[in-house]
Amino acid sequence: MLKFPKAVSRRFAQVTAAAMVAGVAMSGMASAEETKKFGLGREATEEEVAAWDIDVRPDGKGLPVGKGNAAKGEAIFAAKCAICHGDFAEGVDRWPVLAGGRDTLKSQNPVKTVGSYWPYLSTAFDYIHRAMPFGNAQTLKPDETYSIIAYILLMNDVITDDQFELSDKTFTSIQMPNEKNFIDDDRPDAKNVKKDGEPCMKDCKSDVKITMHARVLDVTPETGGSKNNEDAPKGSID
Ligand code: HEC
Repeated sequence: MLKFPKAVSRRFAQVTAAAMVAGVAMSGMASAEETKKFGLGREATEEEVAAWDIDVRPDGKGLPVGKGNAAKGEAIFAAKCAICHGDFAEGVDRWPVLAGGRDTLKSQNPVKTVGSYWPYLSTAFDYIHRAMPFGNAQTLKPDETYSIIAYILLMNDVITDDQFELSDKTFTSIQMPNEKNFIDDDRPDAKNVKKDGEPCMKDCKSDVKITMHARVLDVTPETGGSKNNEDAPKGSID
């Protein structure tokens, strides 16, 4: 751990305390003076926001306009993906397998692939467009991504026609074989949109109460160990 000379650490503590007080004051001000500028950074440009905003959701929200089919996808996959994932998406050496594995999930050796495991096709679009080809992420054009996904679907027997046009229009017509095995988390202590309603996203009033302070709790061990650490039974994970 970094050690400061005494004078410095006292100064550091004062500055930190001042910053915390300022932080509290500022957060109080924020609602009253939402537009106040602090002279830090700059507003993100529209292009920057667009480059960031690439998530695709199960209902198709976020899909870019475009189209492709498996026949075209086969050539793109061979050029950009097959070196790791195999010509037929079967996986080379220990690179991930993207096809097959249906009905293996309950077996001793489950093979989790896009076809056997993934609940929604949107994950394939989001992930491939965002992260692949490995080492060269976000270079795929939307049409290339649609074509590659159509090819992966063909290799997984989810579609059988290599001319089927996968596009932002037809995308949600595809149902993944394992979707039904994903169920809502209905544990009584878990947040559940169906049960609890949509979570608050704006001007949320929180009824969180501070019940203890870390310093009082003594969670930061001093030299020789904190009281809590001494009290904890040996091998306890608390
Ligand atoms: C250099 C090797 C390499 C190339 C080329 C490559 N990938 Fe991957 N791919 C990986 C690795 C490694 C992972 C696992 C990454 C991780 O888990 O963080 C992965 C994961 C994936 C997954 C998720 C697999 C799963 O079930 O979790 C998909 C889908 C995928 N790649 C598709 C593609 C597509 C489509 C292309 C071509 C556009 C491509 N990859 C190119 C190495 C590669």
